[in-house]
Order: sequence, then structure tokens, then C-alpha cells
Amino acid sequence: EIESRHRLRGGWGGGGDREWGRGLPYDSALSQEALETLAEEAGFSGSEGRSLAFTRAASVLKALPGRLSTLEELGPLPGIGEHSRRVIQDVLEDGVCAEVERVKLSERYQTMKLFTKIFGVGVRTASRWYQEGLRTLVDLQERGTKLTRQQQAGLRHYDDLNTPVERGEAESISRAVQGAVQRCLPGTSVTLAGGFRRGKPHGHDVDLLLTHPEAGREAGLLSRVVSWLDSQDLILYQHSQENSYALQEGPEPPGGRDVMDRFERCFSIFRLEVQGGPGAARGWKAVRVDLVVAPISQFPFALLGWTGSRHFERELRRFASHERKMVLNSHALYDSRRNLFLPAVSEEEIFQHLGLEYVPPAQRNT
Ligand code: CTP
Ligand code: MN
Ligand code: MN
Ligand code: MN
Repeated sequence: EIESRHRLRGGWGGGGDREWGRGLPYDSALSQEALETLAEEAGFSGSEGRSLAFTRAASVLKALPGRLSTLEELGPLPGIGEHSRRVIQDVLEDGVCAEVERVKLSERYQTMKLFTKIFGVGVRTASRWYQEGLRTLVDLQERGTKLTRQQQAGLRHYDDLNTPVERGEAESISRAVQGAVQRCLPGTSVTLAGGFRRGKPHGHDVDLLLTHPEAGREAGLLSRVVSWLDSQDLILYQHSQENSYALQEGPEPPGGRDVMDRFERCFSIFRLEVQGGPGAARGWKAVRVDLVVAPISQFPFALLGWTGSRHFERELRRFASHERKMVLNSHALYDSRRNLFLPAVSEEEIFQHLGLEYVPPAQRNT
């Protein structure tokens, strides 16, 4: 049963932004979707560079004002390569691009999509399973595939975790965490980051940033918060990581793409009580939650880094390093010319250091 439902439906992975882009001209949205499919497929094949090129092209389309009816209108837009132009042209002329349709129908693409939507399964694992002849979620169970604790939880809650999280649900989880931190360390603030901070109506998870106005007080907070939430039966799965960042180590080497930050964090699955929706009969729904603890001095950088979008962060960091010779990450901003860290008490100040006009969260959806 799981098999037929999941193999046939497109999934909402790439489509998560489809609803978001609903106001767009129809054909432009279709081209974007086509390019995102190719980006996804390239990622499944391990071609990160190609994947990024298609993602960039899709973002350029997203940023275009008004309706796109001919390819000429695109002019010599930087960021749209020849392959992407061909895809856009096909979609404009025929409504579909044969290459993209072929990808969507391919067994490998569909299986990779199915497997990578399991929490804890990346391209490498999914690809190995595909090589081994596994095709469905049932296969994973019946053939006794070795799964990590995280993957077991991902499989157990597959449907819930692939159902978009609504803003109201995110706010309710934020309140629950707020309650927990007030018990453990009064004065701690809880900030909703990620897509919801950018104003998106849904997300794939809830990203919460914790900090305390007195430096150092946040140490050890996370494990107490998680224990308390767990004692209230609010947590279905969790995996915590300790803080491994020391400013003395100096900045990360520039150019390291998507380097993980090193805050104390917890990747978790919450058990959220619900009245309606898919989990209504059970009365609860599983929701992915990321909890991140930042010391107050790093908070603006953490907030900027965890608000996203991923693409916006990538471009901003690239701008910092190429145009300003500065290294920006979720911990700090480092000026390589002057050999010093540039402190900030707000996101606004970080943009000032970079010599950029402030970009509010709602405009970081590119
Ligand atoms: N992020 C990060 N380190 C991670 C995971 C995420 O710095 N280990 C950042 C990402 O760069 C992104 C933000 O946190 O900018 C939110 O990530 P994510 O939850 O994956 O994406 P959202 O933009 O929130 O989109 P969604 O609604 O799908 O959750
Ligand atoms: Mn909705
Ligand atoms: Mn998120
Ligand atoms: Mn997240």
C-alpha cells in the first residue's frame, strides 16, 4: 500500500515551492519546475555542479518580474546556461520538455526520490539501495535492510514527515519549546527561523533558535530542554550534537560549500497534537524540528544563517568572499584583509559590514 501511494505521487519535495510560487505566470512556473527536476536528478547522480547550475537558472526565472512568453525576453541573462535555455524553450513551445518527462518517469529517479525523502537517508545511501535492487519502502522492511535509528524513525513517520508543516503547527511547537525553556532557564528566547521566518505558509520542518542574553548561560541548556520535552511525551526521536566551535580556531576556509555550523543542536521529531489534517484520527502528527543553541554574541549570524533560503545563503557567502574578501558563516564574519572579526548585534549590522542594503527575511526566498 505504501508502495503504490508513494511511487506514483510526485511528492512535494521540489513541489514544496510550487504552491509558494502560485502567483507566478503559469509557463514560468512550469519552466522553473522543469529546471528544479533536472537539478534534483543531477544531485541524485552526484553531479553537484550541474545541480547547482539548474538551481541557479530556476532562481533567475523566479526573480523575473511579469510573464515570460518568449525566450528572447530572457536576453543574455547571466546564470542561465545553454542547457537550461533549451529546457525553458521546450516548455514555452510545447508545455513540456521531453528530457524532463523522461527523467520523471525513470525508475531510478522515482526510487531515489522515494528513498531520499526518508529522514536520515542521503543520496549515497539511496543510491546504494537502488544498486542493490531495492525499489520500495516495503522492500526496505522485508529484506531486512540495515537502518540507523534515525532512518528507522524516518521510515516509521514517513507519511507525516512528507506532509507539509503548517504555520499554525510551527507556532504551536514554538510555544511548547518556549514553555520548556522558561522552566529550564528563564530569559531564554526562542526564535522561529527557516522558511517560516521568510513568511512561507508551509515548511518541511520547524527551525528554532535558542539564545540567552547573558553569555555562557546557554551552556547545557539544550539537554535539559530536550529531557523535559521528552518527559512530556513530546519527542518521538532526537539526536543531539555538542557545540564544537571555538572562535580561537579562526574562520572556516572560504569556499567550503554548505559547511555545517557547529552549534549545539538537536535534530528531532516532535509528537504534535492535532485536531484536523492527516493525523486527525490518531490525534497527533510527527513533525521534524531543528533546535539550535547560539551564544548571544553569535546570535545575529546564526539567525541570518538559519533563516535561509539555502540559495540566498550561498549567494550571500559567495558575495562576501568574492567581493569583500570576508568569510561569512553562521558563527561570525571575518575580514581577511584586515585580519579581524566584525562583531554584530543584529542582522542589519551584518549587511552593513558587507556594504549591502538590508534584505528583510521575506525577500530572501530566492
Ligand atoms: N541550515 C544550516 N545548517 C544545517 C541545516 C540548515 O545552516 N545543518 C540552514 C540552511 O542553510 C537554511 C536554513 O538553515 O538556510 C533552514 O534550513 P531548512 O530547514 O533545510 O530549509 P527551510 O528554508 O527552512 O525550508 P523548509 O520549509 O523546507 O524547511
Ligand atoms: Mn496549506
Ligand atoms: Mn526549515
Ligand atoms: Mn531545518
